[in-house]
Amino acid sequence: MKRLLLLTFSVFTFIAASAADKVIRIENFDYLEVGTKFKVYGSAGAQLSDDVASATVVKDPRYSFGNILHVKVGSTPAFVEFDIPNGLTGSKASEYERIAFEMMRPFGQTDRFQGSFVVSFGTTESLRTAFADIDVPVSEENKLKTSKMTYSIKKVSSFSKKIRIGFTVRNTEYYIDELRFLTTDFKYDYTDVEQTARYHAEKLGKSIGVCVNPNQLNDSREGQTIYRNFNMVVGENAMKFDATEPRRNSFNFSSGDQIVNWALKHDMQVRGHTLAWHSQTAQWVHDTEYSKKEMLSILKNHIFKVVGHWKGKITEWDVVNEVLAENQGRGVGAGYDLRNPGESVWYRRCGEEFIDSAFVWAHQADPDAILYINDYNIGHWENHYESGKTHAMYNLVKRLLDDGIPVHGVGMQMHTSINGLNVSSIEKTIKEFQTLGVKCIITELDMPGSNPSSSSEQRVQATKYAGLVDIVCRYDNAPTFVVWGIADDRSWLENSEQTKPLLFDPEMAAKPAYISVVNKFKEYAVAAGNPSIEIDDHNPLLAGDDVYNIMGQKVATSVKPADIHNLPTGLYIYRGKKVYVE
Ligand code: XIL
Repeated sequence: MKRLLLLTFSVFTFIAASAADKVIRIENFDYLEVGTKFKVYGSAGAQLSDDVASATVVKDPRYSFGNILHVKVGSTPAFVEFDIPNGLTGSKASEYERIAFEMMRPFGQTDRFQGSFVVSFGTTESLRTAFADIDVPVSEENKLKTSKMTYSIKKVSSFSKKIRIGFTVRNTEYYIDELRFLTTDFKYDYTDVEQTARYHAEKLGKSIGVCVNPNQLNDSREGQTIYRNFNMVVGENAMKFDATEPRRNSFNFSSGDQIVNWALKHDMQVRGHTLAWHSQTAQWVHDTEYSKKEMLSILKNHIFKVVGHWKGKITEWDVVNEVLAENQGRGVGAGYDLRNPGESVWYRRCGEEFIDSAFVWAHQADPDAILYINDYNIGHWENHYESGKTHAMYNLVKRLLDDGIPVHGVGMQMHTSINGLNVSSIEKTIKEFQTLGVKCIITELDMPGSNPSSSSEQRVQATKYAGLVDIVCRYDNAPTFVVWGIADDRSWLENSEQTKPLLFDPEMAAKPAYISVVNKFKEYAVAAGNPSIEIDDHNPLLAGDDVYNIMGQKVATSVKPADIHNLPTGLYIYRGKKVYVE
């Protein structure tokens, strides 16, 4: 019901959004085929042939995702033509007072790159804006240097034509990316990679995720917001039992495949959600009174087929979801109560062993996948209504580990609220699970408020989001931070447009909460970027060490201190210390 309503709303928000947008993308090249050519013109306005000048889409040499435009200029200055977004006329057009792009000059060019930058609207000289003496630095060997270019442009009343941009420089080549118009007052620019949480989280080896549905994953502002700001997705519904096995042994992976393929295209990880859950189990499982034996074989088949289908593509699974009862009141070391058998078809027909078996089968189906037990109203260790259930989870995980079951972590859904969240109590839980030797991650965070008109509440929300990121950054067993929805109007929660639980607003503008998440990741990434390790090239006793990634897997053997910087960009463990390689 809620989802149908959302569709109707989104039409209105789109129309309302365009006037308030702060960034209008002209072209970012990511969705164009490599090899696509743009038209290039000379100063006099004649089109130039390929052997004189060219502008070709190539893979971005800086990142593993995305494309970029490679411009080659011969003996005459050249200007590349772009279509500009339709319908930007009148006062809407004149809001945009800047043009911006990223630019790189490859190593080996002459140092000087002096001339004017020229942007012409349409093909007429009268709308031409030129900036003299542009001097763009050239890249160093093996180190591409990105320059961020921003120019004020003439206010125009219409962007319904084409623009041409280029430099009055001959015999040169350069790359450009992220060509866009900006208003003068924007603060957060989602096309600037360094302003994204993804960029900083990746430097720390952390995953920042969001739940998605296939219809969000396209070349829209929404799709862009997702892959630029997050490096992990989880299907909101696409991988649940009712979606993947709607009839017995008849599997439908199409929605899940759409998510996985899109995520891999954008170099993102995928969390699998979820294999054994009492809710959203296909109706046929309920309709027949299967015996325990048959029920277990249904679960086994489901897990093998689903995990097997995405083996190597999905890095982690919520194997069982929401198996604990709400009220516990037992305490650490005093056992746990499972959800009422009346509510769970798996528990009712199989007994507790379905939990153990599910983990064993998931592990057999993909030995590399990290396996989680996930639940809601857990996370606060003490002085909180969640404490009893949190302790019960601890007791259950300990029992599973003692029995040799391959459970690697606990997922705290964290459908919390601004008032209900106590960050230090969550930290205690992460620490307790660390002592137990398992991960403890945030899997479905949303944080609604209670007073829709309060802006101070939004500030408290920002502080609490940042507080959670802070603990994620400080604990190695907390590698993942997932929010349950991209924008306030896309949440599963009732009235979410009023209670504003998420990181982006309905127009995909970053909320204070998102900015504080970025800043917190950045704070730690910058600190990690200044490695505390002392490198001594000359001491032979220190040579020949192995390098591990943040997950503790060996990535290189016998690396000399002087060579460590040749590893790909990332965070490593070397001689027991974290080292960031740029
Ligand atoms: C929710 C989805 O967000 C909704 O779209 C769907 O109608 C119901 O499920 N705990 C979970 C998630 O583990 O799978 C749930 O997702 C939210 C609560």
